Formats: sequence, structure tokens, C-alpha cells
Amino acid sequence: MRVLALESSCDESAAAVLDDRRGLLAHALFSQVELHRIYGGVVPELASRDHVQRLLPLVDRVLRDADTRPADLDGIAYTAGPGLIGALLTGAALARSLAAAWGLPTVGVHHLEGHLLAPALEPDPPPFPHVALLVSGGHTMLIEAQGIGDYRLLGETRDDAAGEAFDKSAKLLGLPYPGGPHLARLAERGRAGAHGFPRPMLDRPGLEFSFSGLKTAVLHAVRALPEGAGEADRADIALALEEAVVDTLVAKAMRALEATGLDALVVSGGVGANLRLRAKLQAAAQRRGARVYHPRLEFCTDNAAMIAVAGLARLAAGEHDGPGIRARARWPLDSLRPPAADSRCTA
Ligand code: KG4
Ligand code: ZN
Repeated sequence: MRVLALESSCDESAAAVLDDRRGLLAHALFSQVELHRIYGGVVPELASRDHVQRLLPLVDRVLRDADTRPADLDGIAYTAGPGLIGALLTGAALARSLAAAWGLPTVGVHHLEGHLLAPALEPDPPPFPHVALLVSGGHTMLIEAQGIGDYRLLGETRDDAAGEAFDKSAKLLGLPYPGGPHLARLAERGRAGAHGFPRPMLDRPGLEFSFSGLKTAVLHAVRALPEGAGEADRADIALALEEAVVDTLVAKAMRALEATGLDALVVSGGVGANLRLRAKLQAAAQRRGARVYHPRLEFCTDNAAMIAVAGLARLAAGEHDGPGIRARARWPLDSLRPPAADSRCTA
């Protein structure tokens, strides 16, 4: 089976071709980061307008790179939610239109299921059941995954997502949008112990997170900087923030392994690209005899290869969309069901 996949839920336009026997044949991405940078965040209307420009050339490119003709495809997967509704509709409409022209079934994929299944693209895919730590710009969740489409939410953030904590702190430190990777780079030059930021919710039982207080700690630290403070002082704050977020994520992920008795941990979503988080999770898991599974770095952040994995699994089971073009801005992950051979409604 071979599928074409599209991703357009936020500010990345992406396409990919995945074959169930030969693996990932092609993937391509256009990031709108430069477009939104001057606004300090994603402007939904601009995102939609840009996806419309970018998606079709990306489709052409991946089909060419994968040496694939429309007649070689068995279906088209696209991100149907959650995300920016206008942006989602551009990908949904294009996927459904191509599918109508080429006589193919489509399946609307849940963006977070894509993130969760991204490590399946690696040579040593994670087994089920496992615990997944999903850390992106919009979500921070611990999930018990029994199988594809069988997700139990163990805990999530009460306020800001981990990626938001990075991005908002980066903004306070004067770093460009999106701040997470910039803050991580600045933190490399920070001196440990210069600031004592809190480890939110660690003193309480359970698997919930709260990161909104950390940006207040960063704000106070930035305001307290002396006149003429330089890069080194800001690096200290960046490191303190990164350590506070990472320590909290690691501790709660270990708590989730403990609570479920599982020994496999999947880490996915944009913040999963953070090298300190990867190293610390690795070390903590090793101490308890558990294994950590990551997507490769470029598949931590938004991409279409992960949408292809989820879409292929569902199309292979005979699942496909009903009539109409639908997308959902909000779509709870635990409302998903395992792939099944019935047409389903994605709205
Ligand atoms: O999964 P993603 O691409 O988009 C969402 O679905 O949200 O995640 C983007 C988030 C942003 O908040 C970005 O700053 C963060 O992931 N991020 C990082 C790193 N790379 C991306 N945060 C910390 N360290 C990184 N290296
Ligand atoms: Zn994402």
C-alpha cells in the first residue's frame, strides 16, 4: 500500500509518500517561520493563504522524488485536526480534491496521533503498550498507548504547554520566534545554579503539569538583570528555564512509567527535539531499565511523514472519510478509536 500525506495544521506545509513495504519514499516541508516572525507568533489568516500556495508544489515534488504516479497510490491522508481551522481546511480540501480526481479514498488524521506514531518511521519502532510523552507548542500530555487509536490520557498541562513555556520565555529574553530552539542554544552557554526556578507540580502526586508560573519566574529574573547585563546573564536564565521544564517532564514521565508498570517511553512533539530533554530522559529511563523511543529530530516538529504513518494504518484497515470536506479545530485525542473498516466522520 502506498499513501500520499499532507500536513497543514499550523505554520508548516508538508507532503510525504509512504509505502508499507518500502518505507518512507519522500517527504518535503515548507516552514512559514519567516512569514510570521515579525508578528511574534502564527497569524492564522496568513498561514492559510500560504498553505494554498505551497501545498500543491510540495505534492508534485514528493511524487517526483518517490517516483510515484497517482495510479500507484492507494489513498491520501491529511491532517483533519486539531489546529488552525483555515489552515486545516486548505490541506483537507486539496486532499479531497486530488482524491476525487484520482479516484482514491482519503482519511483525516489526528495531528497528535501523527506525532505519537512518528517513531514508527525509525528502524527500531516502539512496541505497544507504551507511555508517550507528547510535548509540543500546543500540548503537554502523558498518554498510555495500548495500540494505534487506543490512547488513555494520564495527565496533561493545566495551563501553558511545555513549548509555550520555551517560546514565551524566549520572547522575554529577546529571542526571535519560535523561541524554543533559540532558547536551547542560548542555554548551552548558561552557568548552572545561577537561578533557582521552581519545578511546578512536582511536590504533588499525579501526572498533571503547569508551566505558566515559569514565565513569571523568567520575567522577574529578566527584570532583575543589572543595567548593561549581557549575553552570559541571559544564558543563565535560559539554562534555568530549560532545566526547570526538563526536570519536570522527566520526573512526571518516570512517574507515568511507575504508575502503569510499562517499560517503553515514546517522546514526541516539537519539544522532543530538545537535546537536554532527550539526554535526561534517556538517563532516567536507563536507571529503571526502561527504553526511550524518539522520532529523528526533523520528525519531532510538524511534518507529513508522521501523518502518512497514521493514515496508512487507518487506510490499510479499510477506514476512510465519509462525503464532505471536514476539519476540526478541536478534537480530543482520547475520542479516537482503533482503525476500523467503516467510513467515519471527522467532524
Ligand atoms: O510539534 P510542533 O512542531 O508544533 C505543534 O504542534 O505545536 O512543536 C513546536 C514547539 C514550539 O513551541 C518550539 O519552540 C518547540 O516545539 N521546540 C523546542 C525545540 N525545538 C522545537 N523547544 C525546546 N527545545 C527545542 N530544541
Ligand atoms: Zn505538532
